[in-house]
Parts: sequence; structure tokens; C-alpha cells
Amino acid sequence: MHTDRNTLFEKLWQNYREVTPSAAQIHQILGAEENQAIVNDHIALRTFNLAPVGLNALAQHFLALGYREGGEYHFKNKKLYARHYEHSDPEAPKVFISELLTEQCSPELQARVNELVAGVTQEQVAADNFLYSGRHWDLDYDTYRNLLKENEYAAWLAAWGYRANHFTVSVNHLQHFHTVADVNQLLKDKGFRVNSAGGEVKGSPEDLLEQSSTMADQVPVEFRDRNATIPSCFYEFALRYNKPDGNRYMGFVAASADKIFESTNFSTQ
Ligand code: NI
Repeated sequence: MHTDRNTLFEKLWQNYREVTPSAAQIHQILGAEENQAIVNDHIALRTFNLAPVGLNALAQHFLALGYREGGEYHFKNKKLYARHYEHSDPEAPKVFISELLTEQCSPELQARVNELVAGVTQEQVAADNFLYSGRHWDLDYDTYRNLLKENEYAAWLAAWGYRANHFTVSVNHLQHFHTVADVNQLLKDKGFRVNSAGGEVKGSPEDLLEQSSTMADQVPVEFRDRNATIPSCFYEFALRYNKPDGNRYMGFVAASADKIFESTNFSTQ
């Protein structure tokens, strides 16, 4: 496991931007508009609730860096469970980890996913590079398509493996853009696609968190039997409000996150 937080997040970012060219472009555009570094609010990771790759095993990488457990979130329809992790250092990005509750899926999906995960060892999961190590299994295109028919999250994870699903611009730290809607307008002016599921701005000041995201890039992936272009990762934007006690809200909003998950859906937009 990494012992330096900045190294871990730098490696995650490099790996993420390789398959998310729009995030690299938006990061550059915002950086130029702001003339300052962009602060990352949080990253999100996805996994299956199966040993040795369950949510808790991924979380170990952050607990080892001084993170502590934050809130937990249930996504009944998507068959997902999630927890967030935060650090006493306010500069540390928060971490949102979700896992697919595989036992709620069809026997066929369970069989396929069990096969994928069977070859992953505890040693690999504990290794420095695990969180940005990609896919640990062979995958043919038909298996991907079959997973996709039942569960988009399972298909994404099968195709992409372990990597940041998204990074998130902290709108609180921007000088020239004060709202999520302002950022969305910039994105649309520059030709990027904004996820409109549940509205372009998810959440409200009452929720203490407003978010938006791009739709995932579509990039070529090598399957065992062919190459295919599929949704990869997306970029998110978050504006946090203060709680009544005057401290900034550090949690997440399940209803908003539910729609953010859909940023990796295939879209014809
Ligand atoms: Ni997020």
C-alpha cells in the first residue's frame, strides 16, 4: 500500500486521464480560466462485494493513509452499497467506494463475476498499484454484452477493472465559477456532454451538496476476441455548503449519486 497520499492520487490521476481524454481537456481549460491549480473534491471507486476485492479491501488503502470511515449509502434499485472515507486534512480528497451486491443479481451474472474475481489474489489487492491496476481478468466481448444487458455497473467494472471511475473538481475552490450551473455552461460551450439524468444539477443547497458530471468518454478497449469502443470514465463537479454548525458538509447525497452512476451509460447524445 502507498504510504504517501499524493503519490497514490497522482498515480490514480495519470491512469484515469489515459482513458478519459475529456477530463484531461476540461482540467486544462478550467486551469487556464482559473490560473490556479484545480482542487479534487473526491474520487470514486467501484468493486464487487466478493473476496478478495470487496469494498473493505479497497478501503484499506485509504485507512492506511489516515482516512476514516464516513457515511454509508444504499442504492436499492442499482443493487449497490457504498461508503465514503474522509481525512482530517481538509486538502485530502474524499473517497467514495461502492460495491455491487452480487447475490441480488441473476445466477448467470453471479457465475460470470465469480469467474472473473476467482483469479485475483489478496496480495494483488494489497499491492501499491491495485487501485489503478485495471482489469485482472480475461474478458470476451459477449460476456461484456451479457453483463451489460443485466447490469451496467457490472459490465463497466468487468471491462475496466480497478481504476478511478471519476475525479471531481471542487467548485468551492474555483475563483471564476461560483455555481455548478456556471461550470455546466462552460462545458456545454466547449462541446462536452453533461449528464442530464435527474437534471443537469443534482442536489440542492438544502442537501448541502450540488453536483454535475460529464457523460463518460467512449474509448476503445481490447477484449479477448475483438476491440470495441465503450464508455470509460467521466469528470464530476461538486459544490459543498456549510452545515448549521458552520462546518462544510463532507458527505454525499444518495439520490444524486444514484444519477451520477448513470454517467457511464451508453448514450447516443
Ligand atoms: Ni462522485
